[in-house]
Amino acid sequence: MTAPARTRNGYARGRLTVHDDPAKLTPVSRALRAAGRKVVLVPTMGALHEGHRELIRHARSVPGNVVPVVSIFVNPLQFGPNEDLERYPRPLERDLDACREEGVELVFTPSVDHMYPPGSDTRIVAGALGADLEGGPRPGHFDGMLTVVAKLFHIVGPDVALFGEKDYQQLTLVKKMVRDLDFPLSVVGVPTVREPDGLALSSRNVYLSADERPRAVTLSRALREGAAVSAHGPAAVLERARAVLDTEPALQVEYLELRDADTLGEPVDGGRARLLVAARIGATRLIDNVPVQL
Ligand code: PAJ
Repeated sequence: MTAPARTRNGYARGRLTVHDDPAKLTPVSRALRAAGRKVVLVPTMGALHEGHRELIRHARSVPGNVVPVVSIFVNPLQFGPNEDLERYPRPLERDLDACREEGVELVFTPSVDHMYPPGSDTRIVAGALGADLEGGPRPGHFDGMLTVVAKLFHIVGPDVALFGEKDYQQLTLVKKMVRDLDFPLSVVGVPTVREPDGLALSSRNVYLSADERPRAVTLSRALREGAAVSAHGPAAVLERARAVLDTEPALQVEYLELRDADTLGEPVDGGRARLLVAARIGATRLIDNVPVQL
């Protein structure tokens, strides 16, 4: 990566300004808000794909004089000891190109030291929902995720923050943290972007082998077919989805759950629900979910 010319406010690249230092980013964001701009934040870990781009486009379509801000930070706190922190893709130059193409004005790319200087060990605790579903096999994951999201909210000070429904439990927990801890912003969920065959886009899809890739589509097909029989009740939804999952022996299903769409607690008769699945295919762990109207 060739080092671009530094300016007083980070480095400018086209309309894009990149900051790695929170102390520089915060005053820029505050000045924009003071000037009447609406700061809309899209937090990411980079390796931007069409799903992230959709969040950015959604950010730009928020009513008002919007400044779309993207953060790119692979947050070590939310990775377990046996997870893919080291090999997580970090194509920064390509990500900045994607941001520029999507009309992003401000990108925040802190280092681990910027976010967690030595001695920084205060954490957000995700509560009971943090230990459920994804939290089962990934203890501490949601504490780490919420801690970095809280920091990003304080550093950037957005009016609105966007999260993908792809990570539905994450979206639910962020909304809950904002409510529980009185963060002055609104959190908006954006529907999942999928490949033409239905596979939800994910930075981890690159880990799928040529043999695994077509098999992975069974996940979204199971959810779709389950949701399609919702008129017959929750048991029928789960039964149908399970039957489809069972057709693909390469899938090791970790959970298949039907939950209330707002709380992720027990689904309510006649209410909005969410059908969620996690499965391993080879060494890759995939998650997906769809809305279900009971
Ligand atoms: P990351 O996995 O990079 O995802 C960033 C955002 O993109 C999340 O809100 C995620 O739900 C959304 N996203 C991913 N795939 C999507 C898809 N196919 N369709 C729509 N949105 C999609 O999620 C994280 O990073 C981190 O946990 C983070 C929130 C940045 C905190 O570290």
